[in-house]
Amino acid sequence: MIQLPKIIKLLKMKVLNVDLGERSYPIYIGSDLIADPEIISQHIKSKQVLIVTNETIAPLYLDKVLHSLSGYQVQTLILPDGEQYKTVDTVTTIFDAFLEHQYGRSATLIALGGGVIGDMGGFAAACFQRGVPFIQVPTTLLAQVDSSVGGKTGVNHPLGKNMIGAFYQPECVIIDVQVLSTLDDRQLSAGLAEVIKYGLIRDPEFFSWLEQNMTVLLARDYAALSSAIERCCLAKAQIVAEDEKESGVRAILNLGHTFGHAIESGSGYGVYLHGEAVAIGCCQAADLSRRLGQLSDSDVDRIVAIFQRAGLPTNPPDNLSTDDYLAFMGRDKKNIDGNIHLILLARIGWAELPLTVNTDLLVATLESYGTV
Ligand code: NAD
Ligand code: GLY
Repeated sequence: MIQLPKIIKLLKMKVLNVDLGERSYPIYIGSDLIADPEIISQHIKSKQVLIVTNETIAPLYLDKVLHSLSGYQVQTLILPDGEQYKTVDTVTTIFDAFLEHQYGRSATLIALGGGVIGDMGGFAAACFQRGVPFIQVPTTLLAQVDSSVGGKTGVNHPLGKNMIGAFYQPECVIIDVQVLSTLDDRQLSAGLAEVIKYGLIRDPEFFSWLEQNMTVLLARDYAALSSAIERCCLAKAQIVAEDEKESGVRAILNLGHTFGHAIESGSGYGVYLHGEAVAIGCCQAADLSRRLGQLSDSDVDRIVAIFQRAGLPTNPPDNLSTDDYLAFMGRDKKNIDGNIHLILLARIGWAELPLTVNTDLLVATLESYGTV
């Protein structure tokens, strides 16, 4: 017989669907889900399981996930922690683990961690024996609202962020909001940058809700966090269902990212957190949108203010030159025929599809932010 606490947990759990035909999958959002054998086991096809995590997350959550997998043949791979390890070399160690344990094509990879683990785990799963199933168990707010959903996987190159990768969808995404209790404040804020992005690109009511609820989100009110996570995942699921491989609308999820990726790569991976760089990049995109006459001064002030209230930086590092930016931005994946394409805002709550922009205006934005 199912016990009452379990029934309450299941009733409170939200299940969203990423609708991609035969590659559709559920996103589970709730509490204490990572230790639940019933959810994860529905998505594992054979006995062989490889959990990929890192040295920070393993002591916190590995035992719970192992508990949910009794009866399976489980191996674990604990990687070093940090954006600087999001490399082809690290992914090779995942292939080594599969091969050393003689795992085959039906083995399931479980990525237990933030976006770095999820992106690398997913990429390894996409490549090993031309594709093994994988499950995303995101443990940062950023990964729960963005990177675990939608199947973008990959690694960095010294010359550019996420330059090597594949679109490869997971079997499911298991979001356990309780794991956010151990996340430090800086990482929580970094996740809020992507949350705010959803309000900016397509959801003005959510943007206003975030303005009203930022204090409770920062205080880790789990009802507020769950509600924000659900809204972001719903938006992402809809956008990905419409445009899985980013030939159109999916590009708006990259608001602020072209500037942000230049900041991450140009400063050295790990100096700025991804969410911090996105926050600065969204402010730069807002500034450029204002120069194009699309946003008012007060719109830009509202945008800068909400990132600041979320504890995020809004000014870029002072050691990047305009030429540095243009070089990194010139390698962005959205570019066409060498022309930089940017996502800009028509208004708060509506991002436009990628556009080429007048280089003088782009340089004016970069210089107004004090590039050297
Ligand atoms: P991260 O994976 O580096 O995690 C941040 C830090 O928090 C790490 O030190 C990690 O060990 C630690 N951590 C994770 N969960 C924890 C927990 N519950 N308690 C305590 N500590 C915990 O960073 P991130 O912000 O999660 O992800 C950033 C990465 O995601 C970047 O590489 C970015 O490019 C990528 N990303 C990918 C997509 C996508 O669509 N695939 C989207 C957005 C970002
Ligand atoms: N984070 C951008 C995307 O998934 O498309």
